[in-house]
Amino acid sequence: MSAPNKSYDPVEVEALKPEEIERMRDEALAAFAAAGDLDTLQEAKVAHTGGASPLALANREIGALPPHAKAAAGKLVGQARGAVNKALAARQVELEAERDARVLVEEAVDVTLPHDRVPAGARHPLTTMMERVADVFVSMGYEIAEGPEVEAEWFNFDALNFTPDHPARQMQDTFFVQGAKGARGAEGSGDESGVVLRTHTSPVQARAMLDREPPVYIVCPGRVYRTDELDATHTPVFHQIELLAIDEGLTMADLKGTLDHMVRSLFGADMKTRLRPNFFPFTEPSAEMDMLCYVCKGESVGNPDRPCRTCSSEGWIELGGCGMVNPRVLTACGVDPQKYSGFAFGFGIERMLMFRHNVEDMRDMVEGDVRFTRPFGMEI
Ligand code: PHE
Repeated sequence: MSAPNKSYDPVEVEALKPEEIERMRDEALAAFAAAGDLDTLQEAKVAHTGGASPLALANREIGALPPHAKAAAGKLVGQARGAVNKALAARQVELEAERDARVLVEEAVDVTLPHDRVPAGARHPLTTMMERVADVFVSMGYEIAEGPEVEAEWFNFDALNFTPDHPARQMQDTFFVQGAKGARGAEGSGDESGVVLRTHTSPVQARAMLDREPPVYIVCPGRVYRTDELDATHTPVFHQIELLAIDEGLTMADLKGTLDHMVRSLFGADMKTRLRPNFFPFTEPSAEMDMLCYVCKGESVGNPDRPCRTCSSEGWIELGGCGMVNPRVLTACGVDPQKYSGFAFGFGIERMLMFRHNVEDMRDMVEGDVRFTRPFGMEI
């Protein structure tokens, strides 16, 4: 800013002539009016209201005027600057409104356009089913337990009271990963344990008993392997869910009550199970468990007018095996059979999926075609 202009300087006063101030104002107004967008307006703003703009410079010159001229010049410049600022603000509002309207149009989303055409995946119904069954037991206080799929032969067979020459070792049609002993035993010495792909989830029973102190309440969903060819009713890889309860004073009644609770939770309040004698080396007594056919509730039996496809009019659907844990298994796994007893059961998830959802071909379950999985819901 110039120092007060005590000695009158006609050159500086030139800048404060009313016509000059008007010209500056009009140029500013014209520049704002001509600005077609906010960027140009910003440039015009700097040029016409900034520190180096003609009006700012003129304003500074007021201080250099002789005292009697200051008031008039101050009014003149002040009015011009006021008009310029007002015009600037008005143009700013106008241009912002224009920009907002344009952005709204440009960025409008057409909600009627088809959305993502990439097909979504879906959870496999086997997974959903296993979780659903496991949830029934978790809600009763059971823990989920897991074990390896490549399993020591000892856990898969020996700990479960399959003697080395037990025919079940062949009957189960086992995938042997490493040398075995016993009846197959050409490779093994007889003392060491071979390695197999587990043929059932029951080895997790042995692992759970060795890992934990009783009482033990576990449920184990998992993959198991048998040397079957893949066809409509067989698959070499399938899923089982195993349950084991070890406590003082457990009886067959507890087993039966637990099974009944499970089928009621999964299939409806009026469901029940029945037990038929069977044999498993690791349970004694052992039973085959059937559940009432949840479709005909047994009413198709002896009733040719009402045949039932789900149970082939037998009234019952076979579910799996169960029994009281053999005391020899308890002993092998470090549990005192004098003090504790337990029950166990295991069944196949594929089979349950087949009859629960009328899946007729097992191959549909392993092929991974999303057209099979999607109708079960749970898209991801
Ligand atoms: N593991 C047996 C099978 O695969 C089923 C079973 C589990 C039987 C638990 C009794 C107790 O057939």
